[in-house]
Amino acid sequence: MEAQVFDDLRQYIAAAKQMSAWKEITGADWNLEIGALIEATAELIAQPPLLIFDEIKDYPRGYRIVSLPYADFRRVALALGLPYDKSKLELVRLASKKIRSAKPLPPMEVGRAPVMENIMTGKDVNILKFPVLRSHETDGGRYIGTGDVIINSDPDSHYVNMGTYRMQVHAPDLLGLWISPGQQGRQICMKYWEKGQSCPIVATFGQDPLTFMASMTKFPWQTSELDVLGGLRGKPLEVFRGPVTGLPIPAHAEIAIEGFVPPPREEARDEGPFGEWTGYYSGGTVGTGEPQPVVKVKAIYHRNDPILDDEAPLWPGAVRFDLNLRAGLLWDQLESAGIQDVVGVYAHSNYLYVVAIRQRYAGHARQAAHAVIACSAAARHGRYVVVVDEDIDPTNLKEVLWAMMTRVDPATDIETIEGCWSTPLDPRMPPEKRAARDHSNSRAIFYAVRPFAWREKFPKVSRTGRELFDQVVKKYSDILPFPPR
Ligand SMILES: Cc1cc2nc3c(=O)[nH]c(=O)nc-3n(C[C@H](O)[C@H](O)[C@H](O)COP(=O)(O)O)c2cc1C
Repeated sequence: MEAQVFDDLRQYIAAAKQMSAWKEITGADWNLEIGALIEATAELIAQPPLLIFDEIKDYPRGYRIVSLPYADFRRVALALGLPYDKSKLELVRLASKKIRSAKPLPPMEVGRAPVMENIMTGKDVNILKFPVLRSHETDGGRYIGTGDVIINSDPDSHYVNMGTYRMQVHAPDLLGLWISPGQQGRQICMKYWEKGQSCPIVATFGQDPLTFMASMTKFPWQTSELDVLGGLRGKPLEVFRGPVTGLPIPAHAEIAIEGFVPPPREEARDEGPFGEWTGYYSGGTVGTGEPQPVVKVKAIYHRNDPILDDEAPLWPGAVRFDLNLRAGLLWDQLESAGIQDVVGVYAHSNYLYVVAIRQRYAGHARQAAHAVIACSAAARHGRYVVVVDEDIDPTNLKEVLWAMMTRVDPATDIETIEGCWSTPLDPRMPPEKRAARDHSNSRAIFYAVRPFAWREKFPKVSRTGRELFDQVVKKYSDILPFPPR
């Protein structure tokens, strides 16, 4: 199986259609109907199909939306350039090795870019030329950036950051921006705002999958995701220098904008409410009590028949990301921090991180858990860390829960740590902490491992051994409806 590197979203969609389920839906309404259908699909259908919406109400044929591209882990494997016949855990391991071995490759500037096929500037700027969704019933507006990539550059070091931060449409040339405290894109904006300046910004909507994955993963401060991305791709990302901001614009994006973010004390708007990935309306102005930054859009570029990537949050019981790069980065960072014998890592949403170790010494489990909270990949907005033994697959919640139920003594094996990096969109953030802008939370660590000192005396596992289990499944699969393994 050849690993593929995709230059744009179109190539990726074509490949994903070859290897997994997909459906095209025509005539649906951008106003709530599409959002509800996406949530129903991701909640009710196991391994949800990739959805492509065309002939969207009020919009011409060709102005499409793709959704759920990463709701099946095999499509994530395809996106990451990994073999898609492996288990989730093997894929996380392969992703971590890929991150470790990738040598940073800066982007390559090109003179011509598909994204420049159509240009809107001045009075022609109109972001509602595209079928921007209103996804959830109480959303305060339409959101173009959910599946976006926002690029800005540190004025001191000139390193270029990519981050995925949502964008609300306030007006045809004015977008709202929700960047949670501490996010790298926000730290860069603040450097401009402190000098009373507007921060130049580029955003793309609909880009090749690896660019999106790198954008939404927290690589350490001063690590340019553009360079990391080049390394992961094995060839530089082609970029076009933005005529308005001078920032790099991924050349093969479907849609891109250039604009400026003025200091919020000069201009800001109420943002949201927006249905968050937590399953609540808790971010933006609702979460902070304050108006949020805006982007004054100076230019819009787009390809013919553009495809928007919808990644609007879904209630967590619906699968939006069946796997992502974050767990791979966390595994790599744990090993780089010197944690030995890590045999599995997984992120079940931002709230639950599981790390499996082969315990070597007393204190090993605590060392691993504290490192999870400290590593950039998992430092922000977690809730629970579970450390398990090597016989537990961290990707399998049934196994993780079993370990928590049977290997944790609540009085001695649950540790809480206060004052960790969180975000105002945490629904459990107390009102007084929000008011004081103390956007921190506590974490609970579950040491769901056999106690090291008497691990040899811990009762033996009674579950059928995997070899015998696989043998009988194979032997009787003609008689019993076992799923494919
Ligand atoms: C679909 C999606 C939407 C996101 N929206 C936001 C958002 O609106 N605001 C935010 O602060 N982080 C958001 N995030 C999380 C950030 O993209 C993520 O923390 C990323 O690492 C930020 O980039 P940075 O590390 O360069 O700051 C989103 C992530 C995803 C996958």
